[in-house]
Amino acid sequence: MIDLNALGKAFRDEYGTEPRFFAAPGRVNLIGEHTDYNDGFVLPLAIDRRTTVAAHPRNDRLVRVRSLNIGETMSFDLDGTGEGRRDIWLDYIEGVARVCESRGFHLRGADMTLCSDVPEGAGLSSSAALEISSALAMASVSGFVIDPVKMALIGQQAEHQYVGTMCGIMDQYVAALGEAGHALLIDCRSLEYKPIPIDTSDIAIAICDTGVKHSLASSEYNARRRECERGVQILREWLPGITALRDVTMEQFEIHQEKLPEPIRSRCRHVIGEIARTLAASEALLHRDFTTMGRLMAESHRSLRDDYEVSCEELDLMVELAAAVDGTVGARMTGGGFGGSTVNLVHRGSLEMFREMVGSGYAAKTGHAPAIYVSEIGEGAREIG
Ligand code: GLA
Repeated sequence: MIDLNALGKAFRDEYGTEPRFFAAPGRVNLIGEHTDYNDGFVLPLAIDRRTTVAAHPRNDRLVRVRSLNIGETMSFDLDGTGEGRRDIWLDYIEGVARVCESRGFHLRGADMTLCSDVPEGAGLSSSAALEISSALAMASVSGFVIDPVKMALIGQQAEHQYVGTMCGIMDQYVAALGEAGHALLIDCRSLEYKPIPIDTSDIAIAICDTGVKHSLASSEYNARRRECERGVQILREWLPGITALRDVTMEQFEIHQEKLPEPIRSRCRHVIGEIARTLAASEALLHRDFTTMGRLMAESHRSLRDDYEVSCEELDLMVELAAAVDGTVGARMTGGGFGGSTVNLVHRGSLEMFREMVGSGYAAKTGHAPAIYVSEIGEGAREIG
């Protein structure tokens, strides 16, 4: 948990004014991977780790930001032309600021100090937490109330234009709209969601970080997205009404799959199957049917590994170790892949054994002790303090 007193003190020491505080969480996705940019469904939840921003408006158009995690202060001028993408942490903040401006929100300059306990590079969307918390802070101290779905779209556009990953809407959406005690079944076409209550009194959400940073992720991610688009283009010849893989049923896919060259055929099979699994999973959770949920998570992981090819040895190992523990309900990779974390549903009574067996098994094979967190379900972006 971030200590607001310490953040407030760091802010006052640096800028000499009294800040307001804003926060947005990281996320794990229970199921529905690489479906968001195919207009499909996803089922993420906000974790109990977040990025917190202290902010106070300025009378000019300068935005000064201190990151306590990095120990660095950087700034940009809202009236400047912007440097574009520099591959630094400020890109996320300058990105959302410039997208806000381009959408008609004329921002005031601001002094900001931020601090995050969402681990970076762990596949838990530390970047969406940064985008959404800083967008909320800059908009709020400028006097704007931005609808949270619009806020998510602003974060996504910033990621496209200033970071270069052509991500879907999932991470920013759940960072903006997450609800305590619930996963969100997000319809990534209509941008509506249904909260799915998750009773964590007996079943815990355990997150295992492989420690592998997903460095290939951006280029491979964009390549997968293009393969899906190509699949839609080819299938449209036989299924003229479709605009995304969301529109194709598994029965239709099976009839037409021979027309798709590999690897496009396998990519489409994953996405179409995963959308169906996500809907089935939300039903299973509503009925507290964890046996079905566990089976769907296992199928999702296999499909991401074999058909979508976004897993890696370390993620596969972590899932295998988790699945071997009595008391594990479900285990799969979560997020974009190529490293990062797995998400696991584990009976609380088995958590100690889970930590021991997964931790030692992973260390024995890789020489690296994994970070294993148990997370409660956090809430979406808001003003705090
Ligand atoms: C990343 C992207 C999301 C989503 C996932 C895969 O986290 O930011 O939009 O596509 O990968 O499900």
